Amino acid sequence: MEFIKEYADWFYLIGAVLFILTLRGLSGPKTAIQGNRYGMIAMAIAVITTFFVADHPVIWMIVGAMVLGAVVGIARAKTVPMTQMPETVALMHSLVGLAAVLIAIAAILHNNQLTAAFAENEAVLTAAGVEHAHMSKVHLFELFVGCFVGAITFTASVFAYGKLAAKKWAKTISGGWVKPVQALIFLAMLACGIYFFTTGNMNAFWAMTVLALAFGWVWIAPVGGGDMPVVVSLLNSFSGWAAAGIGFTLENNMLIVAGSLVGSSGAILSYIMCKAMNRSIINVLFGGAMGGTAVAAADNGEKAQRNHRSGSADDAGFLMSNADSVVIVPGYGMAQGRAQNAVKELCEILKEQGVKVRFAIHPVAGRMPGHMNVLLAEADVAYEDILEMDEINSDFPATDVVLVIGANDVVNPAAKDDPSSPIYGMPILEAHKARTIMVIKRSMATGYAGLDNDLFYNDKTMMIFGDAKKVVEDMTKAINGGGH
Ligand code: TAP
Repeated sequence: MEFIKEYADWFYLIGAVLFILTLRGLSGPKTAIQGNRYGMIAMAIAVITTFFVADHPVIWMIVGAMVLGAVVGIARAKTVPMTQMPETVALMHSLVGLAAVLIAIAAILHNNQLTAAFAENEAVLTAAGVEHAHMSKVHLFELFVGCFVGAITFTASVFAYGKLAAKKWAKTISGGWVKPVQALIFLAMLACGIYFFTTGNMNAFWAMTVLALAFGWVWIAPVGGGDMPVVVSLLNSFSGWAAAGIGFTLENNMLIVAGSLVGSSGAILSYIMCKAMNRSIINVLFGGAMGGTAVAAADNGEKAQRNHRSGSADDAGFLMSNADSVVIVPGYGMAQGRAQNAVKELCEILKEQGVKVRFAIHPVAGRMPGHMNVLLAEADVAYEDILEMDEINSDFPATDVVLVIGANDVVNPAAKDDPSSPIYGMPILEAHKARTIMVIKRSMATGYAGLDNDLFYNDKTMMIFGDAKKVVEDMTKAINGGGH
């Protein structure tokens, strides 16, 4: 096994390349499974190599921890429902943060032990020419950064988990006192960290760690539930940087590379999500509690008077089966109504009738990145039928029927033509350009942004009220029963 130790850097290099291929694979649904495979191989290489690189490993502890982790991980992966994925991810990030804190503490205590042992036998050791290697400034800096990023990631992720799992203890906080308290804790944390970095004082280190833990909590607690997906993605990025920090502490190149990949990909994803919502990351993180209404509702009452046209599932089924092309726009309501399998069935029956059916996916449709893609993949919808916003937008004017299922903000034309709208500038699926528009939702209620939607009052629009799954099933029945 000396061989593995000797060539460790080469194995790490292979692992790093595989991690990059993993990210590349995960960028599309078709290649995602292969991407996951690369990731598993890379992780196995990383773990096995590190096992042999470690000096005097305590085998039973490492193997015990690995077995325990594997059992918990497999059990969770097998049982977690898709709807609980975001909170599971948040919980996993919290563990990376906690690991960073514990490793930083262990590294410092270990060094203190060495220092004490050296001091006890200083005369003998010095006479024998042994020098005590004090922690360098760079090392202290790594520990300082790794520990505070890890501590913030830990408590912030635990809060995000609690919030997403609707736990009572994860209460959103609000009020004028929040921002000054956040600033105070942050500055105190920074001051303690800098003091530790310059003097190596342990009390300052402990104080910094406790303050960072507190900061993670008060920083995320004011963020509204609807913004949590962006926060989880950002915490993903943080957990990566914390892992990279541990990599420096442990002088492990693999961890530095893998941590940086997670850190930067998480940051890019957060940026993409914010851009697709036309929000800035600062606004999400420091905009205060906004609950389910991310942007203030701009309804002015007059819209309540406007007329809309409603129809039945039967009418809609008949219209669609006579169309040449149908584009389905799924949104949060499809997830909420667990309608994906019914939608797939509708898609199949329409195809049997010779209708060209495609799906249009907005980057922030639903409540988590890739929400719609995951649901449609679960229902076995063919990947080639699923198109991203940029691919399909130019096709809407030539589309006979667009069927909006539980989507609202992502098809709100105000984002394009009403400069006074809070979502003005957010890219949307241009469903309003289709020849006929059908919208399935339960009422005329607003979506996540709390805004009325002109699309529902459009002359070309037919509202079909009801639960997404029930309406879609009724449409399928109507087409089946009606023949063609
Ligand atoms: P929304 O704008 O939230 O609209 C969803 C619509 O679905 C609602 O208007 C609701 O109307 C309807 N609905 C809910 N349950 C339903 C059911 N069982 N059957 C039928 N309809 C149902 O969703 P969207 O268009 O997908 O937009 C997503 C929003 O979430 C955007 O504003 C986005 O910025 C935000 N957001 C997304 C993410 C990510 S990463 N995806 C993260 C944070 C925030 P009724 O109540 O009348 O049925």
